[in-house]
Amino acid sequence: MSGLMSKLVRPAALFAMTMMGAGVAAPVFAADPEAGARSFARQCTSCHVLRDDGGRMLVGTGARTGPNLFGLARRPAGTAEGFVYSTAMQQLAARTMLWDEPSFVAFVTGPGPFLQQRLSDRRANSRMAFVVSNPADAADLWAYLSGLGN
Ligand code: HEC
Repeated sequence: MSGLMSKLVRPAALFAMTMMGAGVAAPVFAADPEAGARSFARQCTSCHVLRDDGGRMLVGTGARTGPNLFGLARRPAGTAEGFVYSTAMQQLAARTMLWDEPSFVAFVTGPGPFLQQRLSDRRANSRMAFVVSNPADAADLWAYLSGLGN
């Protein structure tokens, strides 16, 4: 989608809402992977890289504070090779949770609260010291990351 098209399409679709699960309202955004790519470069590369399965660095400068996020949509949470996760993320990994848009958006907009809720543990916390403040931004990031390498 061209930059102009996405600018035209997005605002109207932002207001689309749907009901999910047990009657909890969750927004559905017309996510824009191009905006997600820009957002990733701006906000995430200080801690994350995108390194493909062959070891080639696609995005980033080698940061190792956070795990490689390439292939995120195809691997269970907390299972990037060679990364040592927090206790809470290891507990999540033991439950084999696959990332999808709602879980990704919930995590990046509040890593600690997300883990506390998923693990039913008020003291659970993430080592990710970063929060995406805008859920529409998080949806764009998911559209970008989940589309890589498919
Ligand atoms: C200040 C460093 C930092 C920044 C900036 C950061 N992260 Fe993270 N991220 C981490 C760390 C550390 C972890 C591992 C968390 C843990 O073990 O609790 C993580 C984990 C994750 C995970 C879980 C990955 C998995 O393997 O299950 C996702 C998804 C994620 N980050 C997305 C993002 C996105 C998207 C951005 C940019 C908007 C971002 N992060 C910015 C440090 C960061």
